[in-house]
Parts: sequence; structure tokens; C-alpha cells
Amino acid sequence: MLRLSLLCLVTLSLLLACSTPSEYSPSIDNSRPASYAVASAHPLATQAGIEILQQGGNAFDAAVAVTAVLAVVEPYASGLGGGGFWLLHFVDENKNVMIDGREVAPLAATRDMYIDENGKPTKQSVNGSLAAGIPGTPAAMAHIAEKYGRLPLHTTLSAAINLARNGFAVSEFYNSRASAVFERLKTFPHTAEIFLQQGKLPQVGYILQQLDLARVLENISENGANGFYRGEVANKLVASVQQAGGIWQQQDLSDYKIVERLPVTGTYKNIEIVSAALPSSGGIVLMQILNMLSNFDLQVMNEVQRKHLIVEAMRRAYHDRAQYLGDVDFVDVPVDELLSIEHAEKHLADLSLQYATPSQNYIQQNIVNSLPLDEAAQNTTHFSILDQQGNQVSATLSINYYFGSGFVAQGTGVLLNNEMDDFAIQPGHANLWGLVGSVANAIEPGKRMLSSMSPTFLNDGQRIAILGTPGGSRIISMVLLSALAFAEGASASEMVQEPRFHHQFLPDEIQFEADVLTTQTQSSLESMGHSLKDLGRSYGNMHTVIWDQQINKVTAASDPRGIGQASVGTN
Ligand code: GLY
Repeated sequence: MLRLSLLCLVTLSLLLACSTPSEYSPSIDNSRPASYAVASAHPLATQAGIEILQQGGNAFDAAVAVTAVLAVVEPYASGLGGGGFWLLHFVDENKNVMIDGREVAPLAATRDMYIDENGKPTKQSVNGSLAAGIPGTPAAMAHIAEKYGRLPLHTTLSAAINLARNGFAVSEFYNSRASAVFERLKTFPHTAEIFLQQGKLPQVGYILQQLDLARVLENISENGANGFYRGEVANKLVASVQQAGGIWQQQDLSDYKIVERLPVTGTYKNIEIVSAALPSSGGIVLMQILNMLSNFDLQVMNEVQRKHLIVEAMRRAYHDRAQYLGDVDFVDVPVDELLSIEHAEKHLADLSLQYATPSQNYIQQNIVNSLPLDEAAQNTTHFSILDQQGNQVSATLSINYYFGSGFVAQGTGVLLNNEMDDFAIQPGHANLWGLVGSVANAIEPGKRMLSSMSPTFLNDGQRIAILGTPGGSRIISMVLLSALAFAEGASASEMVQEPRFHHQFLPDEIQFEADVLTTQTQSSLESMGHSLKDLGRSYGNMHTVIWDQQINKVTAASDPRGIGQASVGTN
């Protein structure tokens, strides 16, 4: 009897040991998912991705199709005139790569190009052709298709070409974005012609066609990146930008290159995290916050303690963003130090569990107090894909503000980004997202502007999550909150619905979605010294896929705050 019990005990402890997450190695688990999944911000994009997977394409082919369709049906969020980060996981090699298709500053750009003669920032980093960085999305699509896809661009771009040529039905969601920047859309005749209906917001259901854009997409499908960056399309882009007072040159386009980068990786408790590397601040800020939080057991804390701690960790990591981060190809960034446990401990040394630390305590000469962020500001898009081999894509793409700079280059249908505003255009001057920066993120020709886009993979040894969201500076805090929810067992649907709050160092306030903090929590946080800002609305648009490897089940969810769609299927 005793021997039997001992045997049971030994067997039980062996079983437990085998299943402890820290010893479970996802790298040797090569079983394939039972299903594939696509979750994106628009049902037509999700459908295009699913069709590519059904035709035998892999996750990378589907990513090209989804990117291109989003460029057509979400002109307010991303497009051929913008850029982004595509995080790829190759299941056979157990390898992750980040495709950096971020825009770059034109060669004629100068550090003070948005400062007027009185030393004040102008609006030209936001409005019109001067606000546009050199786009990366067309180069990224061609690169992903040619290097990692199975299907030709001709196939993966066909849904986008059809939707551009034959049109898509305008939704209320489209109109809410168009109305936020209506005056800007009206300013530019080629823009108004395409994106408005006789100078007014389109009727819901209006079929919006983009014939010039269809031809540009066709050109890319026939000639790869050269179909955009050289020849007829490039000539039209440069001529139109220059005519409108912009500074693009042919060489800006012919020199544009995507960069393959190693993503930021780290662990939080038992979760392996893979996220965006510089020039996105996403992965570094996310890991810094998690490094601080890993010293605590959030689950035993009450709501006020937990929120206070998370906010204090956000404050410190966003401070470092402002102080140190920029394009690593141009400036030295102490990435290893920022991600080290010692650095997290340094931050924890002045973190009080009772009182808020004023951000003012950290303000140094080159960062002055910021302006409040533009409350209307929303932007960008995200999609997540898993194929049935187990390959993964998490991609966040942008043209920055709604409808980017508002400028369409004549004869191309390409709406240009206003991503130049993501540079620190003057030390201490806040951008659209209320973010400040230092000389590390100052404008230089050919440099990439600092981003917050944070496409992310999570792996706890049993479940793999693919996630991300739009939302400017709040992207990182949204991904963080959903990662913490995942750590506590949240489903895909719970992760995208997670209530949101945010602190970004400056402005020194906790911003939160309507109804997320009870009156009692608010007064407790205020008594600790926090300033609060009820945004009175929701924000973000997260899309998540989860593959539970233990039961081999795939689930996916799109944020109810948007109009996206998540689909799961089986070949
Ligand atoms: N344009 C928003 C971002 O890249 O963070």
C-alpha cells in the first residue's frame, strides 16, 4: 500500500514536472493546428485571407492579401502610401522575423523642417504632401510574397484589385472616420473625388471605387516592388508631391528598402513574448513594463493596487521611450540595458505602492511638458493569422492619422501617410498622440520615425496568442493589458474585450475608457496622487488568434469596438 502510494507520488510529481510551463519547450512541439484563422479589422480583408489559405497559400500569402485589401477598404487606417511591421513566425525553423516596412524621412528632409521662423511647430507634419514619409507597405508586400509566400502576387493581390476596381460599400464606421477629418479631405481635390461623394460624406452603402489604385496594385502584381518604386507610378508620385510643395525625389523611392529585424523577445512569468523591435518602441516598452510587473503577484492585489502598479510601470517605461528610443540605424539606443532586470530594479527602487510618482520627477532638459493628445486621434490597423502548418503573422500597419496626410498623389489613388509627425519634430513638442521625444527621434534624411505599433506573439507553453491593435501611443498599453489577461487564462474574445486604461508618462494622467474605473476606484487613485482622465469613449481595435496546443483548438476574435471579423476554418 505504502509502496503504491509512493509510486503514485513519484508518478504524479513526474507528471507535474513535465507539465510545468517553464520546462515545456514549444520549440520541439511540431504538431500542426487543427484549423487556420484570420482576424482583421474588415470582413472583406478577413475573407480575402481565408480564401488564400483555402487555395493552398500559407500565412505569409494570406498576410499579403489581407494587407492589400485593408489598403483598399480601410483608407482611413492603412494603405500603399503607408508602412508597418509584419511579425512572422516560421514554424519549421521555429524562427521569428520582423519585416520592418516603416516609412523613412525623404532625403531632402531636415531636422527643423516643421518649425516656422518664430520657432513654433507648423501643421505641415500632419497636413498635406510634406507630412509624408517614403512608404514601405508596397515593398513589404512584395518582399513577403517573393521570399516567404507560395503563391504569386498576381493571386494574392487579386481580391484587392477587384475591390479597388469594382468598389466596396461604405459603412457607418468609414463615415465616422471621414467626418473626423472631413475638412482635410475636402482640401485636396484628388482626395475628395475618391473618398467623398460629390463633396459630402458618402451615403452608407455607396460603392466606392478606386480605379487608379487598382492600376497601381496591378502594376505591383506584375512587377513586384518596382511596380511602385520605379517607372510610371514612381514618376506620378514624385511629380504630384513636388507640385504640391513636397520634397520627394525619385531616389527616395528607388532607394527604399524594407529591413528584416530580430524582434524583441522576453519572458513574463511563464510566457514567452515576441514583439516589435525598433524603430517601433512597442516591444521594448512592453517588455520593460512586464519586467517591472514580474516582481509582483498581480492576482492577489486588489483593483486599486493593481491599477496603480501597472500605471507606475507604464509611466517609467514610457519615460524611457521618450528619452532613449529612435531608429537604431541612426542613433545608439541602450536596448540591452533597457531590457535588463537591473534596469527594471532601478525603476522599482523609487516606485511607491502607496503614492503616484509625479512624471515631473523624471523630466530632463530635452523633454518638456507635453500638450494633451488629440482626443479624436485614432488610426492604424491590425491583423493576426495562423495557418494550418502553424506559421503565424501578426501585423500592424498605418498611414498615421485618419486618411493619413489627406493627400492623394494625382493619377495613383495612393493616399499618403503623415507619419513624419511621429518624429520628435522639436524637443518636447508633443505629436498627435501627445508623445514627446528627444534627439534620438529627431528628423534625419532616410531615418525611420519612432512607432508604437506592437504586433505580438505570446506563448505560455500550452497556448499561443497572436495579437495587436491600432491606437497610437495607447497600442502598447492595450497589448500589455491583454497580455496580462492572457497570463490569467483569458480567451481570445476576452483579450479583445479587455477594459482599457493608459499612462504614457506625459501627459501625467491615467486615461481610461468610459466606465472602466468605478467612482470608488477613481477616488482611491486620486487620493494616491493620480490625475484621471475619463475619455468618455472606447478606443482600440484588437484582433487575436489563439492556438491551444494542448487540446489543439484554434479560436479567434475581433474587437467589438470595431467592425472587424475573425474566422476559423479547416482545409
Ligand atoms: N503612427 C502611429 C505609430 O506608428 O505608432
